[in-house]
Amino acid sequence: MGKYLVTGAAGFIGGAVAELLINRGDSVVTIDNLSTGMRERIPKGVDFIEGDAGSPKVIRKLNGIRFDAIIHLAGQSSGEVSFENPVYDLQTNTQSTLLLLDYACRNDIHRFVYAGSMSVYGDQNPPLVTEDSDTVPKSFYAVGKLASEKYMRIYASEFGITCTALRFFNIYGVGQNLSNLKQGMASIYLAMAVRDHKIIVKGSPDRFRDFVYIDDAVSSVMAALERKNGFDFYNVSTKHRTRVEEVIRIICDGLPYSVTTEYVSGTQGDQFGIYGDNSKIRKELGWSPQVKFEEGMARMTEWAVERMAAERGM
Ligand SMILES: NC(=O)c1ccc[n+]([C@@H]2O[C@H](COP(=O)([O-])OP(=O)(O)OC[C@H]3O[C@@H](n4cnc5c(N)ncnc54)[C@H](O)[C@@H]3O)[C@@H](O)[C@H]2O)c1
Repeated sequence: MGKYLVTGAAGFIGGAVAELLINRGDSVVTIDNLSTGMRERIPKGVDFIEGDAGSPKVIRKLNGIRFDAIIHLAGQSSGEVSFENPVYDLQTNTQSTLLLLDYACRNDIHRFVYAGSMSVYGDQNPPLVTEDSDTVPKSFYAVGKLASEKYMRIYASEFGITCTALRFFNIYGVGQNLSNLKQGMASIYLAMAVRDHKIIVKGSPDRFRDFVYIDDAVSSVMAALERKNGFDFYNVSTKHRTRVEEVIRIICDGLPYSVTTEYVSGTQGDQFGIYGDNSKIRKELGWSPQVKFEEGMARMTEWAVERMAAERGM
């Protein structure tokens, strides 16, 4: 049985990772400030420290526990929010990483897995990116994610902590926060379709994303925990692109009523579209995506419809 710190377990990805660890008998501590997460999402059995992972005072509450690994998934994850408040973004995504790496160093913790992001690539031509592609962040959020990786590289080489950054592409699925309309293309459109029967699209219908189902994101974290040394980073992607227009069609086809769509201007720093080659993670970590977008969206739509009906007391 292992002992893990999973930050952000009140959130979408953190909640799913913590659940898997608890179900297999490990013990889990989480730090979450409930900014976008929900207390109910934290799985039973997880030790919950409420607070900001970017605050030294909160990190001290860990009391020198020696974890088998730190899985750092807490952080604000919206490019839009990073423009509204760049300093907050830096604290939540980067300062938190630095503090937790320092904690790992001082408490003899040898593994660190981080929620990186495909946003570090910015826009690319051609749009299929490998880990050798240039990094050209277009938002403050992406700058912070890349900076975190750079800190990890140094903690691996200078302090011997095995550090792995997973550059998540667009993670979607059951459990995503349907009230957060600033992060997650699939969840934003689905929430609007189910709640208001109207989808407002910020930006072009030709933009596209590489969608990864939540279960596949969780299995990438498990695969990363097996790495033995040094620093490395991996695309967590399917190598398939889905255009905004197709996302909307798939959502609408799955609902028993008609949904209207309105296009408005895009958000600052939004990427037009890239998709990720996944040969490196397949070869080195043995990971491959299992859930196709249509299948994942069908599961998510069913869940969202039930959830909305429950909310409305139907
Ligand atoms: N969902 C995606 O498509 C995607 C893509 C790339 C990267 N990521 C990264 O993965 C991680 C998890 O994303 P998610 O989709 O689960 O988002 P989420 O918003 O559902 O979960 C994030 C959790 O972290 C908590 N949190 C935020 N800032 C915090 C702070 N400073 N201290 C403590 N807790 C804090 C939130 O309350 C929430 O529970 C984030 O770091 C995000 O940037 C997500």
